[in-house]
Amino acid sequence: MTATQGIVVRWTASPTADAAREAKLSSPGFGRYFTDHMITATWRTGRGWRDLAIGPLAPFSLQPAALVLHYAQTIFEGLKAYRHDDDSVWLFRPDVNARRFRTSARRLAMPELDETTFVESVAALVRADEPWVPQSTGERTLYLRPFMFATEPFLGYRPATDFRYSVIASPVGSFFADGVQGARLWVSDRFARAGRGGTGAIKCGGNYAAGLAAQKEAEEQGCQQVLHVDPTDGDTVAESGAANLFVVTADGLLVTPELGTILPGVTRDSVLALAAEHGLTAVERRVGLGELRTGCDSGEVVEMFSVGTAAVVTPVLAIQGADFSCRIGTGEPGERSLHIREHLLDIQYGRAADRYGWLHRV
Ligand code: PLP
Ligand code: COI
Repeated sequence: MTATQGIVVRWTASPTADAAREAKLSSPGFGRYFTDHMITATWRTGRGWRDLAIGPLAPFSLQPAALVLHYAQTIFEGLKAYRHDDDSVWLFRPDVNARRFRTSARRLAMPELDETTFVESVAALVRADEPWVPQSTGERTLYLRPFMFATEPFLGYRPATDFRYSVIASPVGSFFADGVQGARLWVSDRFARAGRGGTGAIKCGGNYAAGLAAQKEAEEQGCQQVLHVDPTDGDTVAESGAANLFVVTADGLLVTPELGTILPGVTRDSVLALAAEHGLTAVERRVGLGELRTGCDSGEVVEMFSVGTAAVVTPVLAIQGADFSCRIGTGEPGERSLHIREHLLDIQYGRAADRYGWLHRV
């Protein structure tokens, strides 16, 4: 399968009525509604990728022994399509997602999909379901979810021989109900997400399954997200359940945990690139939870925010654990956090110069 083969489209016989689609677009929530079509392709070892096509959104038929259902051999990506004021539609850095998808596939002993096919397939789905790309008001976008999973029915333990690749699309608004108002993060001392040699640096379903108990705990404690720490020392700040983390210090540093066991976020990389334009010096290094708490108490940490495709840039107002709670800065969304957020959204929606060539027209 190559991108030059083109992508066959089988149109749905029952497209969503305009009024029903508009109702969904006006109040999309996050990940609740789906467009009319999907991408699919299949892999068999020895035969390679086949049958890349767009067809009506429909359930999959899977054998109960499909390897993914037992050993979680599955990976995914998340990226968004943005409608600009002139009605053109753009993806943000899809090449980086394509590269990460290959890295994830390698780590889980799955077949790689070439980057051109990844980007072309995502763009083709957006073109097919273009009316589903919302207007830019209120952080609305079309969220794209490429994923791959093992379909071979087999209960022995080895990588599968058969896989399916798919892309689905969902019109979305803000990931957090309170969006830009800010989030409280919960530090669990019971549940770890990823450690050295594990799968923290890739995007696989297992990481998210392992984080759900901590997420439940966070919500029970009145927090919106988890702040995961490295289980090896119980202190090294890793990331949040669905986003990377940044701290702004009083002396103008923009500090983020170094890569290794955390997801190398597209948004993280983009924010690092924008730091200098906001008068901040970007630093990637180990951040300790103890150091963070001390910095909050002493006033050295003035702002904190989480970043991700879904989360965009969300101010962090406080962090709390079983035996501590600390407010970040004034406890209100930080000025720098909000400026960086606006800057990123302005680039994505075509309102600010795309100096880095991050936008990809569909
Ligand atoms: N870390 C985790 C665990 C995530 O789920 C995400 C979201 O995709 C991120 C970080 C941020 O990654 P990106 O900016 O590529 O969306
Ligand atoms: C994303 O931000 O794209 C993610 O995959 C996070 C997910 C929990 C919605």
